[in-house]
Amino acid sequence: DGDVYKYYADGEWKKSTSGKSVSIINPTTRKPQYKVQACSQEEVNKVMDSAKSAQKSWAKTPLWKRAELLHKAAAILKEHKAAIAECLVKEIAKPAKDAVTEVVRSGDLVSYCAEEGVRILGEGKFLVSDSFPGNERTKYCLTSKIPLGVILAIPPFNYPVNLAVSKIAPALIAGNSIVLKPPTQGAVAALHMVHCFHLAGFPKGLISCVTGKGSEIGDFLTMHPGVNCISFTGGDTGIAISKKAGMIPLQMELGGKDACIVLEDADLDLVAANIIKGGFSYSGQRCTAVKVVLVIESVADALVEKVNAKVAKLSVGAPEDDSDITPVVSESSANFIEGLVNDAKQKGATFCQEYKREGNLIWPLLLDNVRPDMRIAWEEPFGPVLPVIRINSVEEGIHHCNASNFGLQGCVFTKDINKAMLISDAMESGTIQINSAPARGPDHFPFQGIKDSGIGSQGITNSINMMTKIKTTVINLP
Ligand code: G3P
Repeated sequence: DGDVYKYYADGEWKKSTSGKSVSIINPTTRKPQYKVQACSQEEVNKVMDSAKSAQKSWAKTPLWKRAELLHKAAAILKEHKAAIAECLVKEIAKPAKDAVTEVVRSGDLVSYCAEEGVRILGEGKFLVSDSFPGNERTKYCLTSKIPLGVILAIPPFNYPVNLAVSKIAPALIAGNSIVLKPPTQGAVAALHMVHCFHLAGFPKGLISCVTGKGSEIGDFLTMHPGVNCISFTGGDTGIAISKKAGMIPLQMELGGKDACIVLEDADLDLVAANIIKGGFSYSGQRCTAVKVVLVIESVADALVEKVNAKVAKLSVGAPEDDSDITPVVSESSANFIEGLVNDAKQKGATFCQEYKREGNLIWPLLLDNVRPDMRIAWEEPFGPVLPVIRINSVEEGIHHCNASNFGLQGCVFTKDINKAMLISDAMESGTIQINSAPARGPDHFPFQGIKDSGIGSQGITNSINMMTKIKTTVINLP
């Protein structure tokens, strides 16, 4: 069947022997756009075997050669930005310009990773024994970083390319092999990205990309004995994976309910601009999106007015037209968002705009006077709907932030840097941005969540380190 995109294994594009495929629904048209192979468990087993043997020789490939191939892949990726971006537009309704940005950012990430890898993996430590009580200087200890083996990479739909390469590139530079399971929405963009790595000439079996149904190969992949590390970005599934996975390192980036605390002295124009960017870019479908505004009552009216003026200017429509607000990824996602909106309505939230939905397209909506008994005060809509909670003290804001199950990022707006630092320390989140909306990038910054927001830390340097293990050799003198 020529219409079904092939999966990638052993350096070749293959049809699944299952004879089955999975349809990718275009969020805008709500019609099938592409089909990918529904790989079988048997095919996963084969991929794991190849990944294991390819990794053995890859680990012996000089570091500079690994870096060279990654630089080549990065350049090819950037050359193919238009074709890949087109898939992102059709599969996940990412606005056209943002789709191109995602691919370019991915190329930059791969190059940076190659450079960072040659530096941090190119050096180790030397320790002597006589610093520890009772020892003479008779033992010399040498450390180096060795790869973990086969890394299973599972990126989410919102960055199928960028959050795939943020796992692939650190894994490869560190001498690991990669098995990629892309999200269904975004799988074709991911396959195109893998093709760029194929063109760069990586050894056969080192990189594989299996597509298919989570119900068929999801648990099978994450519980597979051949996997030595899982790097996952997504939602609640990550919690389930962490419970089922074996004794292997896990890197998990899950949801967030990033709070934006606004103090009386904040520059409200700056806050409003950041709420728009942080809350509504890619229609709120980012784990680092601003997901609750906690504003001091005395400036709340003024802030809400400024945000509303900007919401009115957001264009709403198709991703092809580069609209600011585009359809959310699926009908079930749109229904979930609508459920949160209805709950807030019933419980008396103030609707700053009329709620409007056509298919998967939801118009941007600011909900004022949200109270803690409303679901939207705690749950992440992953859509263009943003709650505002008015607070009477900073402590109240910090308390709301810390009462959340999530702790990915947060932000605080004030001109008083001393206050900002104290609030940052008090907020139980992986990163606090002072006077800017939460964001993962630049991609070499550490990125981590606490509580249900994740395990471990990402960012280029941390990911490379996480995908290695320390190996020591001790020279014992007579
Ligand atoms: O939702 C994925 C998360 O990693 C966000 O990335 O770049 O939009 O802050 P970014």
